Amino acid sequence: MKALHVGNRLIDPPLIFAPMAGLSEAVLRKTVYSLGSLGLTVTELVPIEGLLRGRLKLSEYLSKDDLEFTSLQLSGSTPERFLEAGRMAVDYGARMIDVNMGCPVPKITKSGGGSALLREPAKARHIVEILSANLPVPVTAKIRSGWDEGSLNFADVGKALEDGGAAAITLHSRTRKAMYTGKADWKQIALLKKSVSVPVIGNGDITRPQEAKRMFDETGCDAVMIGRGAVKNPFIFKQTMEFLETGSYGEPGMDERLAFMKRHFEDLISSLEAGKALHYMKLFVGKFTRGMDHAASLRQSLSVVKTPFELLSLFNEWAEEQN
Ligand SMILES: Cc1cc2nc3c(=O)[nH]c(=O)nc-3n(C[C@H](O)[C@H](O)[C@H](O)COP(=O)(O)O)c2cc1C
Repeated sequence: MKALHVGNRLIDPPLIFAPMAGLSEAVLRKTVYSLGSLGLTVTELVPIEGLLRGRLKLSEYLSKDDLEFTSLQLSGSTPERFLEAGRMAVDYGARMIDVNMGCPVPKITKSGGGSALLREPAKARHIVEILSANLPVPVTAKIRSGWDEGSLNFADVGKALEDGGAAAITLHSRTRKAMYTGKADWKQIALLKKSVSVPVIGNGDITRPQEAKRMFDETGCDAVMIGRGAVKNPFIFKQTMEFLETGSYGEPGMDERLAFMKRHFEDLISSLEAGKALHYMKLFVGKFTRGMDHAASLRQSLSVVKTPFELLSLFNEWAEEQN
């Protein structure tokens, strides 16, 4: 599988962990990256106004240890404010910046950010232009296919972004209106690929290595991005690489899965304050154990757990019983 060049960055392999607010926090991104075969991770969207007003800190999203394999995603709506935030990000050490043009949530779109930018291609272009002309890092954008079915303007938006200097464009091929319903239409990714000459990253509904290969084959995209499928199965990148290279892939054994979870929980405990660590541990117990035999007892005990250590020892006891 060919590595992908995005400006001066190399994404090798061209498999990317999608940004997901509330899920793809720094500790998870790093643990998944450590499993291998992942070329890039992207932070959840960071609202630029929060950063510029001092309400949010870059260090909460992007660890200095992760700069090499992480792109920072910014959301907002004013080109000049983007530039201020972009400068702050580069001073912090960010090596790649992605502009969110796909978030469908009203909290973001009502102030003109996220997928609302799809309705203003000239402004979307201006944002990418001001960033890429003034910052020494590649600037990319992540879009949806349009605001609704009546305005599927991803190809025009893509061209505008390319003209503005975008180093790559990710398409989650659903409209803003569809939110997460229905199926992503991969034909739109193929169309975008034909419409622009910058790299296109395809995204939407990959849950198995076979589907990742199918997206490459059917759309001609330069990289694939996987979100929800990777939270359910963090081994998907490794499996996809194996599948692309050999035509088959193995399933991780129970011991490998449990070791992954244990490492992740220990990293959460050592990296975050107790309340946050517990929040994510509970969240990920639910995600990682879905479909596992005998996991119901572990999930049931979550409601009474008060500290991350208590949860870790419950998890360890449960894991012992599984071996
Ligand atoms: C809980 C959740 C949070 C998300 N947050 C972001 C975000 O912060 N920025 C972004 O560009 N996309 C966000 N997305 C969209 C994903 O990056 C991705 O485009 C979408 O989930 C489709 O890919 P998938 O089917 O592989 O999950 C989010 C998706 C989910 C489910």
